[in-house]
Amino acid sequence: MTETIGFCQETRAESCGFVLFGATGDLAGRKIIPALFGLCEKKLAPEKFYIVMAARTPLDRGAFESRLWDCVTKAGFTPSPESFSAFIARTEYLRADYDSEDFYRGLAARLAALDAGAGAKKKHLFYLATPPAAFGPIAGKLKACGLLSDPADCSCWSRLIIEKPYGSSPESAAALDAGLETPATESQVYRIDHFTGKETVQNVMALRAANRVFDATWNNKFIDHVQLTVFEELGLEGRAGFFEHMGLARDMMSHILQLAAIAAMDLPASFKADDFKAEKKRFFESIRPLTREAVTERSVRARYESYASEPGVAPGSAVETFLAFSFYVDNDRWRGVPFYVRAGKKTGEKRTCIKLVYKKPDRGIFKDVDIGYPNVFSFNIQPDEKISFSLISKHPGPKLCFTPRSMAVDYRTEAEEATGFPTDYERLLIEAMAGDQTLFLSAFEVKFMWEFLAPFLAAWKEAPGENPLYSYADGSPGPARAAELPNIDGRSWL
Ligand SMILES: NC(=O)c1ccc[n+]([C@@H]2O[C@H](COP(=O)([O-])OP(=O)(O)OC[C@H]3O[C@@H](n4cnc5c(N)ncnc54)[C@H](OP(=O)(O)O)[C@@H]3O)[C@@H](O)[C@H]2O)c1
Repeated sequence: MTETIGFCQETRAESCGFVLFGATGDLAGRKIIPALFGLCEKKLAPEKFYIVMAARTPLDRGAFESRLWDCVTKAGFTPSPESFSAFIARTEYLRADYDSEDFYRGLAARLAALDAGAGAKKKHLFYLATPPAAFGPIAGKLKACGLLSDPADCSCWSRLIIEKPYGSSPESAAALDAGLETPATESQVYRIDHFTGKETVQNVMALRAANRVFDATWNNKFIDHVQLTVFEELGLEGRAGFFEHMGLARDMMSHILQLAAIAAMDLPASFKADDFKAEKKRFFESIRPLTREAVTERSVRARYESYASEPGVAPGSAVETFLAFSFYVDNDRWRGVPFYVRAGKKTGEKRTCIKLVYKKPDRGIFKDVDIGYPNVFSFNIQPDEKISFSLISKHPGPKLCFTPRSMAVDYRTEAEEATGFPTDYERLLIEAMAGDQTLFLSAFEVKFMWEFLAPFLAAWKEAPGENPLYSYADGSPGPARAAELPNIDGRSWL
């Protein structure tokens, strides 16, 4: 067991009631219900805690319990009868009629009774796992029946959690926000990007802040360029209805920007939400906006060969499943350092990683010898959770030859040693129950994402001839054109 040293801080969820709308859906079944069970199982849930699940589908108690069992076991848990009984004892199902005020009045009465029984003191977290069109109307009705308490009243709180995608266009994103803004204040809205809840992503900041050796060199004096890769092995997997409206750029840009920020933003004064978000905002504001011309010259969109024959794909669909591009950050730390990004589906591997590639020696005995990039700092976020640092060392033996070496920390193994370590969704639920918005997206970040995407979307719509949709073989890492993208600047993907 690895020991902890020095500073050690734990966020504890506050006693509360958790209400899950859209409880019969895919997100609820695959992610939220298992996360709720995991929190109870790992004793990370608050002591005084109950769960109400709601959806329009009628479910009797037996059908509800068997759905919970299926969700929990499909997620990989093997609950003992006692632990499953303890979980379902905290949980109940309500049939929802989202348009009827009676439903909300009934919910309010039920929550009041459960609060009294559990001692949860009118503290409620509402997870909106419904289609986004229902977010605003549900929030409005919650407010109207007194369930979205004013955060100024500190003896109680109510929070809303929503999940990306935040709209499918700048206009729909703004409308979505406006629908939430009226009933809820920004401090009550928790926007999830589950990448930020991942253990390795959190470790990027911890590592940067605690080790001067890294942070002192994470700037344009030492770093040659940065690479971000978000590859999925799978293709559509029956989600054409969703993906045909979104495409990869809209679906993945939030993840990409969050990874870039965590790797490259200046370190905040503290990990408290206000400091963290202010620093992240400064980073986003220093990203040089792409012009239409830059999109044409420095981005590649593509789609895998078999996409058109996937069930549910419209004839003539021009939706991209792959995007590569580069951008610059115009601040003192990163001026002149290109950031290369590639993200795609059906790329032959599942891999999310950040690589900081150090400059080659520019003085001394090896300045004229091409030894490749001597140092690459890699954060593998999934599927391996591994941090590595590559070095060039002398090959053992009589000659002076070089060998690349890698120092690695298998972070997953380390994390598994820690008892009760939460998954990404479990962690995000804890943070929301603790009222900490550090890991959640602000309204600014969502708006920024759409502004950043705008020139891509405009170029593809208005000048498709100059911005063709390339094709790539299923299972390959994108089209040749994307492989060549960093070559324009004399670099290559690692
Ligand atoms: N699935 C994912 O992996 C995923 C990933 C990222 C983000 N999200 C987001 O998470 C939310 C839920 O996703 P999902 O895939 O679970 O969606 P879903 O399966 O389409 O819908 C979830 C549930 O919402 C209810 N519902 C359907 N239409 C509704 C309406 N008009 N008003 C109120 N409720 C309605 C349905 O339950 P009843 O008919 O029983 O009420 C359904 O089971 C969405 O906002 C989605 O964009 C999902």
